[in-house]
Amino acid sequence: MPRRVIVSGASSGIGARIAEDFGAAGDDVVLVARRRDRLDEVAAAVLKAGAASATAVEVDLTETADVLGALTAAVATGPFDVVVAAAGGNAALDADAAAERGGTAWAAWHWEGNFRANVLTAVNLVEGLRELDGIARGAAITLFSSIAAYRGSGSGSYAGSKAALHPYAYDLAGALGRTGARVNVVAPGYIADTEFFRGQMSQTRHETLTGQTLIGRAGTPEDVSATVQWLSSPAARHVTGQIIQVNGGAALGH
Ligand SMILES: NC(=O)c1ccc[n+]([C@@H]2O[C@H](COP(=O)([O-])OP(=O)(O)OC[C@H]3O[C@@H](n4cnc5c(N)ncnc54)[C@H](OP(=O)(O)O)[C@@H]3O)[C@@H](O)[C@H]2O)c1
Repeated sequence: MPRRVIVSGASSGIGARIAEDFGAAGDDVVLVARRRDRLDEVAAAVLKAGAASATAVEVDLTETADVLGALTAAVATGPFDVVVAAAGGNAALDADAAAERGGTAWAAWHWEGNFRANVLTAVNLVEGLRELDGIARGAAITLFSSIAAYRGSGSGSYAGSKAALHPYAYDLAGALGRTGARVNVVAPGYIADTEFFRGQMSQTRHETLTGQTLIGRAGTPEDVSATVQWLSSPAARHVTGQIIQVNGGAALGH
């Protein structure tokens, strides 16, 4: 029996790989993000991998007023067994930054931007599904944090927005636990082959971040997806309210 799976952030990077891996398991996969063309490309790959179905839902998850409408059709065929909220990013890396870098206006801009990009995208997806009765009993829900939540992100705002998801996951795990649902958080370290760094990853920075891992390499979307596949499987049936770090040991700070 295919699971019903919804993955946000599925148009690139980690989310795209997660969607493909659920496809390879033969599941019904709903892919959520803003870029329709990229969603359609990934949906085709998900089907090719073996999915029972692959459906693209184009929505900006920071736009609360649009979320219920966008999710309604996806929920109409039944609640989701697996929810992966991988949409996110670091607004401070955004080339279209509206304010000048430096000063109060810039600080307020990236704090607000990162709250929207990382907290609201996850909360709107999960609460939208809850409002639509779109979360199945016994569902596995995975939110996305970052190594930054443990050691900062330079600007503070990206790290802070990811850290905010930890107590949200704890509360959600408590609220949904008696339905058999589990809620966990994956906190990746440096993951290459994603669009996260907006083309701003220099060779020197790559080497620094890779050198901080204990196993001497950058993470891959496949590494993170493998953890999400496990958390979403019966093998993790007694795991809930946990933050799982996937960073090759980099959080130890070597
Ligand atoms: N790469 C890393 O080193 C790293 C490390 C730690 C944590 N993470 C986290 O891992 C998750 C996946 O990131 P990634 O590395 O795969 O980066 P990515 O390639 O940039 O993927 C980010 C995804 O989020 C989607 N997204 C962003 N804002 C959205 C919005 N408002 N509404 C709907 N979808 C939105 C993007 O799609 P559209 O642009 O099409 O909307 C894209 O599919 C993120 O939460 C990120 O913070 C990444």
